[in-house]
Amino acid sequence: MAVFLRKSTNISKYLFSNAKLASVYSSRIIGCPKSTWENVEMGPPDAILGLTEAFKSDTSANKVNLGVGAYRDDDGKPWVLPSVREAERIMTDNKLEKEYAGIAGFPEYTKYCAQLTFGEDSEVVKEGLNSTTAAVAGTGALRIGAEFISRWYKPSKCIYLPTPTWGNHKPIFRDAGLELKEYRYYNPKTVGFDFEGCMEDLSRIPDNSIVLLHACAHNPTGIDPKPENWREMSQLFKKKQFLAYFDMAYQGFASGDTDRDAFAIRHFASERIPIVVAQSFSKNFGLYGERAGTFTVVSQTAEEQARVTSQLKILIRPLYSNPPINGMRIVTQILSSKELKQKWMSDVVTMADRIISMRQLLVDNLAKLGSSHNWSHITDQIGMFCFTGLNTSQVERLTKEFHVYMTKDGRISMAGVTTKNVEYVAKAIHEVSK
Ligand SMILES: Cc1ncc(COP(=O)(O)O)c(C=O)c1O
Repeated sequence: MAVFLRKSTNISKYLFSNAKLASVYSSRIIGCPKSTWENVEMGPPDAILGLTEAFKSDTSANKVNLGVGAYRDDDGKPWVLPSVREAERIMTDNKLEKEYAGIAGFPEYTKYCAQLTFGEDSEVVKEGLNSTTAAVAGTGALRIGAEFISRWYKPSKCIYLPTPTWGNHKPIFRDAGLELKEYRYYNPKTVGFDFEGCMEDLSRIPDNSIVLLHACAHNPTGIDPKPENWREMSQLFKKKQFLAYFDMAYQGFASGDTDRDAFAIRHFASERIPIVVAQSFSKNFGLYGERAGTFTVVSQTAEEQARVTSQLKILIRPLYSNPPINGMRIVTQILSSKELKQKWMSDVVTMADRIISMRQLLVDNLAKLGSSHNWSHITDQIGMFCFTGLNTSQVERLTKEFHVYMTKDGRISMAGVTTKNVEYVAKAIHEVSK
């Protein structure tokens, strides 16, 4: 009976699929063609890329692009770090081959990257508790982590994201099958960190939850918890046994000091809180198009680390097989040489300092124009982005009347501000916020 049922089901499947095929083909034969992808809906354009397009087609001589999340020098031009140029020169001289890297990248690369994240003397690295794999920049790292959690983190399939957060976080985690929830982060009244709201929300969520944290230079707000906030948060994470998912896209870029910017990660690791880290080298090495980064899971024992490493490789192999090698080589060349690393650190300081000085200059210019608002949040915030507190209609006026482009949430990229345009930008902001 069971055999008959199985057979008859197969027969009906066969007949059904053939009938469907026949109808598709006959509709073509009798002249009403059906397109293969007619069910594909038109999607909305990417918010940031749409902004760049609008900026490009604006013919005004005064136009300023404060939307793009990439460093620019004081002439508004992209900047290749001198340390990166030097590393590339050495690599060219060495006439390197172009063979595949291993699934997890070059072992030397992941070793230096883990030291940069956790510190050279960290227990995590010394005890070999980190499973660090190369990743296709920060976005790729975040996605590997999302897939790994979706597959292997048993207590929860829901991730809590700060409000607001980087626009790509939601699709990254959603596409990996995780449920998304939020916790309070930004306080519009103070244009600062809502520490009380954040702690209140996190203390109410289930134990063992997954919580996403921006390690430094929070995007889009530029608002980071203070060290004492991180310490208090870590106690709550410990008590509630949360999994902390750190996104570190700006190490060194925020303060100019790579150790200082890694404080939260290192503190959580020293408290033995379960953590994973997505690390990007797009901004701090200026390697935007090279797509270099890492993803790390910290285990409790070396034996657990070996199992986790094996599963990360199993996950990556069918995704992209092995990572691109050029960015990895540049980073390895720099981090493995004392001299070059020093040069890179001073390049990082150059970028961070220029951004910090533009914040001050913008506030000074607003004051000079007689703005009655308190703009101190501009200098309190850190990293590439600044949450101005301007509303959607003010942003619209800035674009329409002054040709100053930024995201609708009032976020500006400080990298787009220069000594040449700061006066104009301040004037425009002053006009719409009077
Ligand atoms: C918070 C945050 N995470 C991750 C990334 C990923 O960057 P990428 O994939 O270019 O390394 C970015 C880039 O803007 C970011 O702002």
